[in-house]
Amino acid sequence: VADLTTDLDPGLPLIYCVAGEFNQVMLNLIVNAGHAISDVFKGSGRKGAIRVSTRRQEECVEIRVSDTGAGIPEAIQSKVFDPFFTTKPVGKGTGQGLAIAHTVIVKKHRGTIRFETTAGVGTTFIVQLPLAGEVEAA
Ligand SMILES: Nc1ncnc2c1ncn2[C@@H]1O[C@H](COP(=O)(O)OP(=O)(O)OP(=O)(O)O)[C@@H](O)[C@H]1O
Ligand SMILES: [Mg+2]
Repeated sequence: VADLTTDLDPGLPLIYCVAGEFNQVMLNLIVNAGHAISDVFKGSGRKGAIRVSTRRQEECVEIRVSDTGAGIPEAIQSKVFDPFFTTKPVGKGTGQGLAIAHTVIVKKHRGTIRFETTAGVGTTFIVQLPLAGEVEAA
């Protein structure tokens, strides 16, 4: 139910990153985007959009994953990174995806992860990884 497009900065510097764990974070964010879109668009005959973009910033590389889902309701915005917090039915979600993403990005890579969301418009998760940050050995 969604098209995925990418907008990747060709001039990104190399950064330290535990590739397998970073890829898991990206997958978690993209699966969440797909679920959010499917909740809105399923059966509508229309497609939502997932967009993955990268940009070099002053002190970091920024990765954004955007979706055109329903947005994250205000009441749960402070909980989405909590371990085992989920609004999905048993079998679809365990509430681990964003908790893992937070651990991998913040604790292991000294980066940041946050989101911007607008009800009825969609959500963008923004990951920043430091350019020259110290990386804890995995
Ligand atoms: N892109 C999004 N749009 C709307 N809500 C979201 C989005 N991403 C996460 N959420 C909300 O945050 C909750 C927690 O997300 P998280 O990825 O941690 O767990 P999950 O997707 O429910 O389960 P799991 O990732 O373990 O399969 C989701 O259940 C959902 O309510
Ligand atoms: Mg998830």
